[in-house]
Amino acid sequence: MTDSGGGPELTKGGGGPHDDTPGGGPLVVLENVNKHFGELHVLRDINLTVQRGEVVVVIGPSGSGKSTLCRSINRLEPIDSGTILVDGKKLPEEGKDLARLRADVGMVFQSFNLFAHKTILENVMLGPIKVRKQDKAASERHAMELLERVGIANQAGKYPAQLSGGQQQRVAIARSLAMKPKVMLFDEPTSALDPEMINEVLDVMTSLARDGMTMIVVTHEMGFARKAAQKVVFMADGQIVESNTPEEFFTNARTDRARDFLSKILTH
Ligand SMILES: Nc1ncnc2c1ncn2[C@@H]1O[C@H](COP(=O)(O)OP(=O)(O)OP(=O)(O)O)[C@@H](O)[C@H]1O
Ligand SMILES: [Mg+2]
Repeated sequence: MTDSGGGPELTKGGGGPHDDTPGGGPLVVLENVNKHFGELHVLRDINLTVQRGEVVVVIGPSGSGKSTLCRSINRLEPIDSGTILVDGKKLPEEGKDLARLRADVGMVFQSFNLFAHKTILENVMLGPIKVRKQDKAASERHAMELLERVGIANQAGKYPAQLSGGQQQRVAIARSLAMKPKVMLFDEPTSALDPEMINEVLDVMTSLARDGMTMIVVTHEMGFARKAAQKVVFMADGQIVESNTPEEFFTNARTDRARDFLSKILTH
């Protein structure tokens, strides 16, 4: 039901004459991306290509730059140098194009950030009405479909505080999907959840991946990586140290850094 080719096309404008990538091929491209926080060099010459329909899992030690990478892709964080292309278009600096880009790049965080005073259904309907200018009836229909898809249509009239963490995170996923994003970014979506709720969220993500959604997922859930990802990217100190298939990476990591990291996360 999610159109894997992405949502509605970006309207023209913003892109130059040769940065339009027609169907297929790369959807997110980072080239020589650098970012500092003061003296701290948090993204060092990052090169990363995510193909349409590809699922990339990003792992690495705390402070290695994973969240900053995600945040830079939907421009919550500006970069110092390099380029980031989403669907062939360079990230706009500001204004309407930026709002549209944000809608094309869905993001789900560790904390769910739902509006507490709005119902589940209203939370999911809000973005399409405000940003995509969809009419209310169409937004409600689509929101209900999405709530069904993430398995909580029967909670539509409740408020976030009345739901479990896992349910709230599934609402947050539905809310992102409501914008018909071309790519979904997940930054440790299950790390704030109680263990018994982790799988219900991972199952939704796995089914999204199967339906062809392009996804960049920061997670230490290795089962998900093995099941759903085509590529694992290992970051350390702001650099991409290894990039490989999950199978290769988990059984045959090339660097000491990665092997050391894996030995720590796989033993608990
Ligand atoms: N707004 C900020 N101002 C200054 N430094 C920051 C800011 N955000 C992040 N940093 C620093 O940049 C580095 C990378 O942080 P980032 O949050 O991207 O790491 P991470 O890999 O997501 O870590 P974690 O696994 O703990 O979530 C860290 O050293 C962090 O302290
Ligand atoms: Mg982080």
